[in-house]
Amino acid sequence: MKIGGQPYRTIWLAQDGGSVCVIDQTRLPFRFETVTLTTVEQAAEAIRSMIVRGAPLIGATAAYGVALALREDPSDAALDAALVLLGATRPTAVNLHWALARMNRRVAGLKLRVRAQAAYAEAALICDEDVALCRAIGEHGLPLIRAIAARKPAGEPVNILTHCNAGWLATVDWGTALAPIYLAHDAGIPIHVWVDETRPRNQGAALTAYELGAHGVPHTVIVDNAGGHLMQRGAVDMVIVGTDRTTATGDVANKIGTYLKALAAHDNGVPFYVALPSPTIDWSLEDGLRDIPIEERSAKEVTHLTGMSEAGAGESFQVAAPGSPAANPAFDVTPARLVTGLITERGISPATRAGLAGLFPEMAHGAAA
Ligand code: MRU
Repeated sequence: MKIGGQPYRTIWLAQDGGSVCVIDQTRLPFRFETVTLTTVEQAAEAIRSMIVRGAPLIGATAAYGVALALREDPSDAALDAALVLLGATRPTAVNLHWALARMNRRVAGLKLRVRAQAAYAEAALICDEDVALCRAIGEHGLPLIRAIAARKPAGEPVNILTHCNAGWLATVDWGTALAPIYLAHDAGIPIHVWVDETRPRNQGAALTAYELGAHGVPHTVIVDNAGGHLMQRGAVDMVIVGTDRTTATGDVANKIGTYLKALAAHDNGVPFYVALPSPTIDWSLEDGLRDIPIEERSAKEVTHLTGMSEAGAGESFQVAAPGSPAANPAFDVTPARLVTGLITERGISPATRAGLAGLFPEMAHGAAA
């Protein structure tokens, strides 16, 4: 995607060929700044503090984190320590563990002197693959939008509601939920996106609105509580969200508040789609409510708002009554029965074990074995 006319991915190798550059998402939408990661500790901190975020990008950053560790010290002990450090950064996005397991498989059996080089190559491959997977998700999701457009009076936009940020900033490029939207917009289909602000960290208002605006996609930011009302009024044609972990049976963990949107969509007959690359499927899990670990984040994200003052300074304000405790579960689980379909790189599947196994037989059988 382009920022100021210049094409960017969200993660890339620095000029020195060893350090890793990322976009600092804690500064967006007000400042576009990049951060250079030179150690595995910095990579872990970038994930933990949400300089980078979004399930696929977390996985890609962790992969490069392993490479950074091995260029420092290619020993088994350093590899193990890197896997533990990076694996403990955020609990819900399964792409993190998928990427670490893949990196370990790639380098563990190699001689020490070639490990770092192999790790960098594998991390680059993970990034390139993510771009291709997201683009394919876009291509499979596009006909859904086209079909709705065909049923509407000519020129009337397809209204799509999305939650959190599942755009190119959450991946290496393209995004998951936003990939079909970008392709539809580029194909000339009139689109309008309802952007949930996504409290408490406002990934919708800050990041989704930023990237849709940069690409020229018409959109409107709404408070998280407005979605149900808009669906009752017929102002939402479909919902597309991303996911941080989806079980083999189609239960979907995504940013807190997603479940309420799914309930409202179900009540109003609005199709509710989830877009995901296959590394987001946790083939080992059956029951999302019971088995998916839900990250609990700092209460301060709830009690305080951060933003930019009119004078242009970053500021944090307390909005909750001083002394009141706050709880901050960062994700929820939408049961498969509320999901109309899963948009993957291989096509659209019902949110069922049979549907996913039909698209990914090699994974489903591997998990069962
Ligand atoms: O806490 P975040 O900002 O990392 O949460 C991100 C989301 O919930 C996204 O919607 C999800 O990772 C899917 S992104 C492609």
